[in-house]
Amino acid sequence: MSYETILIHAGLAEKSRKNRWPARLDLLQSGTGLFLALFMWLHMFFVASILLGKDVFWTVARFFEGYFIFGKAYPGLVSCVVGFVLLALALHALMAVRKFPISYRQWRAIRAHAKMMRHADSTLWIWQVYTGFLMFFLASAHLYQMFFWPQDIDPYLSSDRMWSAGLWPFYLALLLAVELHGGIGLYRLAVKWGWPNASREALKKVKWALTGFFLVLGLLTLAAYIKIGYEHRAADAVGGRYTPAWALEKEGHTHRGDGQ
Ligand code: HEM
Repeated sequence: MSYETILIHAGLAEKSRKNRWPARLDLLQSGTGLFLALFMWLHMFFVASILLGKDVFWTVARFFEGYFIFGKAYPGLVSCVVGFVLLALALHALMAVRKFPISYRQWRAIRAHAKMMRHADSTLWIWQVYTGFLMFFLASAHLYQMFFWPQDIDPYLSSDRMWSAGLWPFYLALLLAVELHGGIGLYRLAVKWGWPNASREALKKVKWALTGFFLVLGLLTLAAYIKIGYEHRAADAVGGRYTPAWALEKEGHTHRGDGQ
């Protein structure tokens, strides 16, 4: 049987034309992944502003609501950004599921391969699948909260969410998942596209340093929210908002700066 006949019987006769779609989809996956990783770095710094005090976090939150531009807070602006991030996340997840092992057999094969060859990069990839899968649920739940209730981003309300609503284990799991996932993802991007042009060992060192830095920053931030939430509850003030003293004075003790 000729080679052409085999191709026809296998239904591959049309496949001789180059299909550029897999490459395009790969680019989309890398692009959305890079965007999300860079967004996460900024996000971690904004959220960590609570470490500098409630006033600083309040100012950051109001800034994104346009308070210092329009003189009034528009939480809907935050929802727009959340919507955009959600779109990037959905596209990224859609591209990623193409590569998920879809049967137990495939799963066993990749695990056996990684174990047998002691292939560190395959092991990292497996962790990326675990953490990515976890984030389908955790990141969606977080973004749902931020999309529908952006006005509740507030030093006290955020801390009440962590402590009184009992969400700190949720945030801890999300923090671990996103930092591991993002770190491995950026490392794999660098290896795949060859930038920066460094050895895998060097790239891995940078990757672990970044992951370590953002994990420590995230844990300190989480601890700060828990402490504020605990104290707010002890003061029997759960559900009350924070307003810096200067904003209270400026607004004649009436306007809370949250558009309400
Ligand atoms: C525009 C979209 C986003 C906004 C406005 C936002 C906002 C916030 C806010 C205000 C907090 C403090 C806790 C709270 O108020 O509930 C927080 C915490 C957190 N967010 Fe986001 N977030 C966004 C997207 C994401 C995404 C996409 C992820 C990960 C996939 C993420 C992961 C986290 C984590 C892990 C924490 C806890 C941080 C820590 O404890 O150190 N966020 N976010």
